Amino acid sequence: MLAHPVTADPVFEFAADVRAGLTQPDQKELPSKYLYDSVGSALFEAISVLPEYGLTRADERLLRRHSDDIVERLPVPLVVAELGSGSGKKTRWILEALSRRQATSYCPIEISPAALAMCRRELGDIDSISIVGFEREYLDGLLEVAAQRQDGEHLLVLFLGSTIGNFDRPADVRFLQEVRRILRAGDALLLGTDLVKSIPQLLDAYDDPLGITAAFNLNLLARINRELDADFDLRQFQHVARFNHSSGSMEMHLRSKRKQMVVIPQAELSVTFREGETIWTESSHKYSPGELTQIGEQAGFRREAQWIDQEWPFAENLLIAD
Ligand code: AVI
Repeated sequence: MLAHPVTADPVFEFAADVRAGLTQPDQKELPSKYLYDSVGSALFEAISVLPEYGLTRADERLLRRHSDDIVERLPVPLVVAELGSGSGKKTRWILEALSRRQATSYCPIEISPAALAMCRRELGDIDSISIVGFEREYLDGLLEVAAQRQDGEHLLVLFLGSTIGNFDRPADVRFLQEVRRILRAGDALLLGTDLVKSIPQLLDAYDDPLGITAAFNLNLLARINRELDADFDLRQFQHVARFNHSSGSMEMHLRSKRKQMVVIPQAELSVTFREGETIWTESSHKYSPGELTQIGEQAGFRREAQWIDQEWPFAENLLIAD
């Protein structure tokens, strides 16, 4: 697999984002993309097999059952770009269905080199699929893939696992508009989205009894300690999962158990916390099936088809660029 490495200074950017987020006047926050260092990515893999967290299994079930139907609706020839491939495990079903049709290039786009390596191990054996990894932010990577495609080649963008739900609203629509701007009419986007379900079920999924999600969330502070020399005492923060009724999203926070001060030398920052004050670390929006048609249209796509899992409400949405 070829790889296109990152050029910007990631530690500098991390420090700037931590500084901006922890100096917010009202609600302190940290961008959820920083949950995924190598420890966080391993913890997320563990979350995805927890009995309480059905999202990843539902996504994979839909792709396993419907990949032939999905591929039949796509134009030929095709280049596949995946935004945030993770381990690449569930992408296998789509790539195998495509490989039965014709040779295809698959371009996973990931900021994590470890995830790109995992993806190569997981998918490197599929006949007629050549893998070219891009160690980039999503849109930068997609721009490069689009610029390198041959005349007449269409793009299929995969954005699976309901990662779109981790964008604030309406940043999800703005992001899809940016994706659309890079595409040509007739190109496709396969968008996986978690759907509305009962609040107790969601609370269990985001605050599991084994404490894996708590560790996933707290690892963000551990990462700041490791990479920015900070002195967060992890035992003085507690994982909180709550449903925000006005936005329709699950939220993760880290609550300070007492009044305390934390020093983050690499971000040139000392920050104080009140007892009970939280850092907002993630939102995970839960969509209604019809909302996806609307969001797609706002972003310049028409909805070609939608497949819904009955066991764990989750939708695979095939959108075509108008
Ligand atoms: C990656 N993303 C879709 C997951 C989610 O459900 O929002 C991340 C996650 N956060 C807590 N558990 C899993």
